[in-house]
Amino acid sequence: MKIGLFDSGIGGLTVLKKVIRQYGNQEYFYLADNLNVPYGSKPISFLKENLVKILNFFSSLKVDIVISACNTTDSIIKITNFDVKSNYNFIYISIIENAVKKIEKTDSILLLATENTINLGAYKKFLLEKGLSDIEEKACPLFVPLIEEGYWNGQMADSVMRFYLQDSKTKYDKIILGCTHYPILEKQLKKYTNNNIVDPADGITDFLKENTQITKETGKIKVNYYITGNVKKFQDLSKKFMKDVKYDAFFEKINL
Ligand code: DGL
Repeated sequence: MKIGLFDSGIGGLTVLKKVIRQYGNQEYFYLADNLNVPYGSKPISFLKENLVKILNFFSSLKVDIVISACNTTDSIIKITNFDVKSNYNFIYISIIENAVKKIEKTDSILLLATENTINLGAYKKFLLEKGLSDIEEKACPLFVPLIEEGYWNGQMADSVMRFYLQDSKTKYDKIILGCTHYPILEKQLKKYTNNNIVDPADGITDFLKENTQITKETGKIKVNYYITGNVKKFQDLSKKFMKDVKYDAFFEKINL
């Protein structure tokens, strides 16, 4: 199966890693649009035009599935009723819709996400539709630059995490990591919260299990990475994050 994933940078690797664990040897295509990172604070009109270029790119690769490994662009798709289904031949999988399936109606929630994701309100809409009433949201705009610069732990990461999470230690049933970059900080985040952490990537793998016929394949795993910005930086960070996955990685610079 040809599976495409995209994000503004390394965040979507948190989804890719879980998909690889579940399905092994497929044909993976990962687009890292790090020329335009962070998406979280860019104008929506720009991100929407850019999203069309990304989806056209995947269409040209003739992938079977495109997984939104980015909550910000998925918010745009959901809130602006962007009709992926009628315009493209691949199956588009929404991270937000599937993340919400991991939440119970009675849960109290803290959503951590980018400014755009919070402002667009797709999570809130789906959570309210599900019947939840206790929802707090916090935009954490410093997390993405921190992660893209490789500060995943240590003093800098600690003080940013303390800044965002100081008064949320035990307050909620669940914290949704509503940006695919944030699970990279998960181990450290656990120092600042006792709440259950929900990684939306688990919603994606559940969806694939329940709705597709993909089976786990053995053999050498290969990922083609397409990078719009700094290739060296992406290479270094992806190697660090994917170091426990045995696979061949190919890196190619592209212009969207
Ligand atoms: N990782 C993306 C998300 O899930 C984008 C983060 C960003 O570039 O601001 O929202």
